[in-house]
Amino acid sequence: MGGLVLRPPTAADVDPILAWRNRPEVTRWLLRTNVDADDLRARLLGPLDPDDHSFVALLGGERVAMGYLEVKDGMGQDRGSGHRKAEALLGWNVSPEHWGRGYGATIAAELLVIAFRELRVHRVTAGCFADNVGSWRVMEKVGMRREQHGVEDSWHAELGWVDGYTYAMLRSEWLDQSC
Ligand SMILES: CC(C)(COP(=O)(O)OP(=O)(O)OC[C@H]1O[C@@H](n2cnc3c(N)ncnc32)[C@H](O)[C@@H]1OP(=O)(O)O)[C@@H](O)C(=O)NCCC(=O)NCCS
Repeated sequence: MGGLVLRPPTAADVDPILAWRNRPEVTRWLLRTNVDADDLRARLLGPLDPDDHSFVALLGGERVAMGYLEVKDGMGQDRGSGHRKAEALLGWNVSPEHWGRGYGATIAAELLVIAFRELRVHRVTAGCFADNVGSWRVMEKVGMRREQHGVEDSWHAELGWVDGYTYAMLRSEWLDQSC
């Protein structure tokens, strides 16, 4: 895990993460651009949601990254279905001082372990702006497949309509890759 320690978020994480979370190079390709302490506290800490499996990554005590995992139903599923909560939606942010050292891919790989080994979901998906090369490189490094290139399907706060990518992986593919 490259020295990273992953654990659930706590109230003490909010200020240290805010110190880098709103830097322009971080917010450039995020859907939620600037967040304040209340926004981040709400995102990280509650209300308690059994479908939210987000975590904070520490390196020697420094909060260097966050991983997001939200379980949801697949298309066509409803509350009466026997196979609910089949998909997991993933996301990641790494502190800029630590970019390019493989931590993004480490976070993504750990999210796949949580999704497929612990939660046993059928499939994971993640999306990004097409120009967010670092994010889709992370997805390709962990073996996810680009399933959609949406032409001007994504709204960027400064650029307007831009292209987006959707990546995915099936549990069966992850099991094959992990053997
Ligand atoms: C995207 C992000 C998580 C990547 O984290 P990271 O720790 O740098 O990721 P990794 O080191 O595992 O891999 C990044 C890869 O992208 C490559 N990369 C990054 N920016 C690039 C660019 N502009 N052009 C080409 N390659 C680029 C790196 O070289 C690396 O590839 P390599 O290992 O094959 O050399 C990080 O940049 C980040 O937090 N960005 C801001 C928040 C964000 O955009 N989150 C994702 C929202 S969808």
